[in-house]
Amino acid sequence: MMNNKPIGIFDSGVGGTSIWKEINALLPFENTIYLADSANAPYGYKSVDEIISLSIKNTELLMQMGCKLIIVACNTATTNAISILRNKFDIPIIGIEPALKPAALKTKTKSIGILATQGTLMSSLFSVSAKVFTKKIQITEVIGEGLVPLIEEGKVDTKEINILLTKYIQPMTNNNIDHLVLGCSHYPYLIPLLEKILPNNITIIDSGEAVAKQTRNVLIKNKILSKNKNKPEHIFYTNTSTFTLEMLLKKYSSSIVIKNKKF
Ligand code: DGL
Repeated sequence: MMNNKPIGIFDSGVGGTSIWKEINALLPFENTIYLADSANAPYGYKSVDEIISLSIKNTELLMQMGCKLIIVACNTATTNAISILRNKFDIPIIGIEPALKPAALKTKTKSIGILATQGTLMSSLFSVSAKVFTKKIQITEVIGEGLVPLIEEGKVDTKEINILLTKYIQPMTNNNIDHLVLGCSHYPYLIPLLEKILPNNITIIDSGEAVAKQTRNVLIKNKILSKNKNKPEHIFYTNTSTFTLEMLLKKYSSSIVIKNKKF
């Protein structure tokens, strides 16, 4: 049955699990397969051609595994490769982009910040969105250099991350931002720390919930929502150690499987 086939999700590593959590919360009967391409993380400093070929490799593998829909749970891969994936593959493909629009609509100080990878901030898709959504709004873009490798190692709530975040937030608070957009699927894991560092008047915005809602809409539109009423199957594949996935998904350990695989 097409409906009960899994949703395929990929990221350059463990970050897209923040999206998986939103998918699982909104669509609890869907089977899922997750690829953490941690051996190639970070994607943020790779060339556009490399990001495209890694995204094709991940999508092909998920399709071979029988997925009915693909979620590119990586801003860097989405902003650099999604149109190519959509042209190449005949399957619904959902991406994740920095939530500039909601931040631009809500800001009162007319100043917002975005923390993302170099690959996302340099992409033409991002610059088009920034032009469309943030007219007359000041946008402070900061590359989160060094954050993804630390999160990949599981060093989420550490002094090293604290030092980096404090540095990255500085130019944003100098510009009186009132919304901080998290433009990388790894960064929601930094929210507890960011909440300690940021002044109270700054709201953090990430795209996870919006991606889950969009996924539900696309499943309904394509009539491929799962009919499964049993416990769904969730398989996570990583091409490096399983350590960080186990740590980030500890709460779900009885209902998921984490495996090592070469890809
Ligand atoms: N999680 C990724 C993103 O959303 C990729 C980070 C990276 O590999 O540089 O951009």
